[in-house]
Amino acid sequence: MSSSYIQFEVGEDGIALAVLNRPDKLNALNSAVVGELEGIVSRLESDPGVRALILTGAGQKAFAAGADIGELAALAPLEARAYAARGQAVLCRLENCGRISIAAINGYALGGGLELAMACTLRFASPNARLGLPEVGLGLIPGYGGTQRLPRLVGRARAMELLLSGDPVDAAEACRIGLVNQVVPQDELIPSCRRWLSGALAKAPRAVELALQAAGLGLQAGLEEGLRFEAAAFGLLAATRDRAEGLQAFLEKRKASFTGT
Ligand code: COA
Repeated sequence: MSSSYIQFEVGEDGIALAVLNRPDKLNALNSAVVGELEGIVSRLESDPGVRALILTGAGQKAFAAGADIGELAALAPLEARAYAARGQAVLCRLENCGRISIAAINGYALGGGLELAMACTLRFASPNARLGLPEVGLGLIPGYGGTQRLPRLVGRARAMELLLSGDPVDAAEACRIGLVNQVVPQDELIPSCRRWLSGALAKAPRAVELALQAAGLGLQAGLEEGLRFEAAAFGLLAATRDRAEGLQAFLEKRKASFTGT
């Protein structure tokens, strides 16, 4: 499934690679890109053969340099509200689709680009990456969830620095404040994501899925709801073969063999 602005392919291991492909515009997110992203998220939600996603940008300079400023400039107030709501909706779906996603940040991740990366489960960055929310310098605020996800990721104080100054941070600083998980050389970025994912995908699939859901739900709905879900999921897993296998394998001092059942 490849279309004009996002190249998309799924490997035999179930890991999908999506490449934002507008390098002449530093992979800026226009409505067509958002539309293609919606299609990819629908595939993640519905195709059990797609087990995880790596999202990156074409070229060596940018992951995505933001929402398309040309498009933004033409929006009337109600259109601007709908534009933000559409982007927010697809990023929420990506965040909650039950698949691990890694943003492989290969350069600029600004504005909507950083918001997209923040909706992914993890972020790996190359040393040349620059991450920021420059919207206030354009008379805007982030509209794809940046004001909400950034404080949840890095805490209120750091988030305020980025949000209110509009200044980007480099990859090392982003890693130090917890905005990215790892910094790896650019040519190692995708292989590193694949290695990390193959480790997680070798664990009990239902357990991984429910851990992802529990953490996500708790962050959105609060501690009490999150704990209720955690206990229910903990119980549900007792019905799986993989839980019996995982515990038995430990007791027998052997490697567990999971089947996803
Ligand atoms: N929307 C639309 N076009 C964008 C864009 C965006 N967010 N970011 C970059 N581009 C385009 C530029 O207009 C330019 O197009 P052109 O060659 O047709 O003129 C092309 O991408 C290359 O960008 P350029 O600015 O020439 O590259 P640079 O290396 O000098 O600067 C940046 C790189 C990222 C610092 C700069 O492009 C920039 O500040 N972009 C906007 C970032 C932003 O504010 N994002 C938030 C938007 S809400």
